[in-house]
Amino acid sequence: MIDTHCHLADPAYEPDRSEVLRRAWEAGVEHVVVIGESPDASDRALALAGAEPRLSTTAGVHPHDARTWSPQVAAWLRERLHHPRVVAAGEIGLDYHYDHSPRDLQRAAFEQQLALAGDAGRPAVIHAREADDDVAAVLGAQPQVTAILHSFSGGPALLRAGLVLRHYVSFSGMVTFKNWRLDRAVLETPLDRLLLETDAPYLAPVPHRGKRNEPAFVRQVAEQVALVRGLPVDELIAATGANAARVFGLKASMSS
Ligand code: NI
Repeated sequence: MIDTHCHLADPAYEPDRSEVLRRAWEAGVEHVVVIGESPDASDRALALAGAEPRLSTTAGVHPHDARTWSPQVAAWLRERLHHPRVVAAGEIGLDYHYDHSPRDLQRAAFEQQLALAGDAGRPAVIHAREADDDVAAVLGAQPQVTAILHSFSGGPALLRAGLVLRHYVSFSGMVTFKNWRLDRAVLETPLDRLLLETDAPYLAPVPHRGKRNEPAFVRQVAEQVALVRGLPVDELIAATGANAARVFGLKASMSS
């Protein structure tokens, strides 16, 4: 099992991060992609990865913080995306639900970071909330960059736009929530484009809902996705693990 999206550098894990990781390995997690959603978070994520070969990281500026995007930050990201332990740009995208940064700044930061991912030959982890049309338009303008639609909860048009471009779709613990209505998206995503994630410390799956999430709980996500698709869970885990290794280029770090 691979948790393709975890904010393990978050201060929420400061008291017991090594215990959290121990539980993950014991639960059968083989690798965790640690999201570096700001320059600070990326530094902290890289420090964690430096001490643990089963961790990889991303680097980027979250849409909430798009107002901090600048030529200096762009130069930082251009360099960081070439670091061998940084396997993707992200998370980047558009969030029109919270609108923490003005939408025009969100779009500019998103487009420029996607282009930097393309320059570096890295995929991009995409955050999309109530911005399906604009996210699809930005991705459509740079089809050479492989995208991971993270914690997918969007509409059918964004899903199809992503799948046409052979992007990946990642599902989180939201699939276990009582109010989840998107089993159709779980079924429509081809098995070779499907990924699993926790988005920890957020979105803890049932029966942990409302508590701090952690990478071990990707097991509950795998079980629910397997149930929806009518697949043995081991088969689902093998397929999604191979997908994660392929899109993030994890082979080297996983065998080390
Ligand atoms: Ni996230």
